[in-house]
Amino acid sequence: MELAVKDFGTGMTPEVAERAFEPFFTTKETGKGTGLGLSQVYGTLHQSGGTVRIDSTPGAGTTVRLYLRRTDGRSRDEQQPRLPAAGEAPQATVLVVDDDPDVRAFLKDSLDSLGYEPIVADDGAAALRTLERVIPDVLILDFAMPGMNGAEVARQARERLPELPIIFASGYSESAAVSSVQGERSRILHKPFRVADLQAAIAELLKSAAGRS
Ligand SMILES: Nc1ncnc2c1ncn2[C@@H]1O[C@H](COP(=O)(O)OP(=O)(O)OP(=O)(O)O)[C@@H](O)[C@H]1O
Ligand SMILES: [Mg+2]
Repeated sequence: MELAVKDFGTGMTPEVAERAFEPFFTTKETGKGTGLGLSQVYGTLHQSGGTVRIDSTPGAGTTVRLYLRRTDGRSRDEQQPRLPAAGEAPQATVLVVDDDPDVRAFLKDSLDSLGYEPIVADDGAAALRTLERVIPDVLILDFAMPGMNGAEVARQARERLPELPIIFASGYSESAAVSSVQGERSRILHKPFRVADLQAAIAELLKSAAGRS
């Protein structure tokens, strides 16, 4: 089935259209766009066996065509639960802390599709409350957040859980501050990062955690 969404806006140059599905790719000014809109559309469509195409002419507008697979008529609930095949990601719980709802949604979807079990928190205080109840296998922290920043959340989380593997997802200018918190049990992912980078960082941290126990 095809579903097309058309607008008569600014359109995209071929260069922009080519990169429009990349996570974090945006032509909007800083703070305006996350660059996650179309990458989430792409991810959702491909996850469910479909695809998506952009037809765009600068100055004339854009049509985004979604190609969806027809189902066998059963709803998801009726289907057998999907068991992870050998070699798939090990079962691991990942706590994501980010103040941006789009980034949270993107990370949650990415983790889901990688076979991990995501939990999300929208700031440091909420994350620390979650850590009272759940011990995740990996913590993913945004660096710049209102309230506690990533380094502060990491420090408090490690007081409770000294071994907790942490991934810092940092934007532009915080490299110096982030390097100061880097250690054996943490990794830094510079935004924009690809889902494959995320997967590699989690896999490495889980592997070294398993090596220690
Ligand atoms: N309908 C459109 N018309 C023209 N350009 C578009 C359109 N949709 C996306 N783009 C281009 O593709 C880029 C990436 O789109 P995407 O939706 O992933 O992120 P964004 O729109 O920049 O951010 P957000 O969706 O978070 O507001 C946009 O910055 C823009 O350059
Ligand atoms: Mg958008």
